[in-house]
Amino acid sequence: MIEINAGGPVAEASADVLVVPVLGDRNWGPGADWVADQLGDFLTDYLDEIDFEGKPGAVASLPVRDRLPFKRVLLVGLGQDPDAEQVRQGSGSAGKKVTRDASVATTLHLVGGWPVAVLEGLLLSQYRFDKYRTEKKPSKLEQVTLLDIDEATAAAAAFRATIVADAVNLARDLINEPPSAQPPSTLVKIAYRLAGEVDLDITVFDPDNFEDERFGGLIGVAAGSHQPAAMIVMRHEPPDPKGHIAIVGKGIVFDSGGLSLKPPAGMESMKTDMSGAAVVMATMQAIGALKIPVRVVGVAPVTENMPGGGAQRPGDVLTPRNGKTVEVLNTDAEGRLVLADALSLVAEEEPDLIVDAATLTGACPVALGEKIAGLWGNTDEAIERVKSAAAEAGESVWHMPLPSFYRKNIDSDIADMKNTGPRYGGSINAALFLKEFVGDVPWAHLDIAGPARWPDDEHYQVKGGSGFGVRTLIRLIEKAAE
Ligand code: BES
Ligand code: MN
Ligand code: ZN
Repeated sequence: MIEINAGGPVAEASADVLVVPVLGDRNWGPGADWVADQLGDFLTDYLDEIDFEGKPGAVASLPVRDRLPFKRVLLVGLGQDPDAEQVRQGSGSAGKKVTRDASVATTLHLVGGWPVAVLEGLLLSQYRFDKYRTEKKPSKLEQVTLLDIDEATAAAAAFRATIVADAVNLARDLINEPPSAQPPSTLVKIAYRLAGEVDLDITVFDPDNFEDERFGGLIGVAAGSHQPAAMIVMRHEPPDPKGHIAIVGKGIVFDSGGLSLKPPAGMESMKTDMSGAAVVMATMQAIGALKIPVRVVGVAPVTENMPGGGAQRPGDVLTPRNGKTVEVLNTDAEGRLVLADALSLVAEEEPDLIVDAATLTGACPVALGEKIAGLWGNTDEAIERVKSAAAEAGESVWHMPLPSFYRKNIDSDIADMKNTGPRYGGSINAALFLKEFVGDVPWAHLDIAGPARWPDDEHYQVKGGSGFGVRTLIRLIEKAAE
């Protein structure tokens, strides 16, 4: 637990590390001007030596013992006129350099006035997944002081940032956990624990219920696994809700491809194929903790996708919950099958909006790279709502087309549709498939196959499970209450 508090002017501060902004071309931001006054040539000579101008991403670490009441000053480059995400990233870059210090005082929030973004960047950058290492190096950071800010503003920012970062870090933990250590039954236990902690209603359908619930897609995908599958349904039911939103996440705890087996390299990252479910569970935790006055239902179909004597076969026909029939030609296109049941289920309660998050297609990162999610939707408003929430949350999404003239790509010779299409437009074909299961309800789909796993260590991101989507969904639900 990192304690966050409000402090006075920078001239009266003391901490292990002081973190101050530089707005490009040695344009001192708040607090950095004071440091420059105090240190004079000592500072400028040093910055000349290390060629530091204050470009975004650059952090200069200056040992100042004996000169100022800190061990070090970190000058954080933000470039000219940064937005909230650039401040969040700068804060994260500084955060990576204070993991062995106990206390930090900062003025970064005085640029633009985004204390929440500063704290999110700092908290997210402290994340480690080292439970499987014999030598652990946890962050030692205990205290963050926001300088020159009133107590109430600091407390409100601390409340929100801590809840958001805890949720993102929960999603990261769930995504990073090895697949055999976290079967569907474990995700179910965690969902019950979260529901108890933040007062959510929860219903879990187990395989005994699947026939009655007509979860034909989940039955098909789960058939090859020895681990019992589940459909997790969590509900946040505040009094006098201002809206009704459904969030749905793909929860394939391991995607081997099934009988349409993946090659070894393709399987290496497939423990992360439950990222959508992790994002939904983490978002529900945050929504419950923030007590947002919006009715939210979070659904996660969770199962393995395995080959075996009982596995579904290419050529089988499944009937997901809304009654449409699907010819399964490639058992590796399993995400859309389990989502078909989950989307049909939430569409029945006619929410204002359904948003799903899924590591759905390898074609999506081919199109957009690993750090941008694809966004599809069946109404302009649904698309706009997710787009603006993502922009405000600092997550990159890109609106993609959903042309009806591609619908024939998923025509089947014998059923209402097939679960594959041509290789070209693979992510669009998958989105067109999902569209068949939401009826007339406004719906948006996030293909997070790229950003669910961050490919490198940078700013507040840590290589591995990223929790991408949590911040967007929290913001989306908050905006529904505004
Ligand atoms: N989980 C994969 C998609 C994926 C691939 C996510 C790489 C992250 C990285 C999904 O279930 C899948 O296998 N999709 C197939 C669909 C195809 C068979 C139509 C794909 O993308 O190749
Ligand atoms: Mn697959
Ligand atoms: Zn998959």
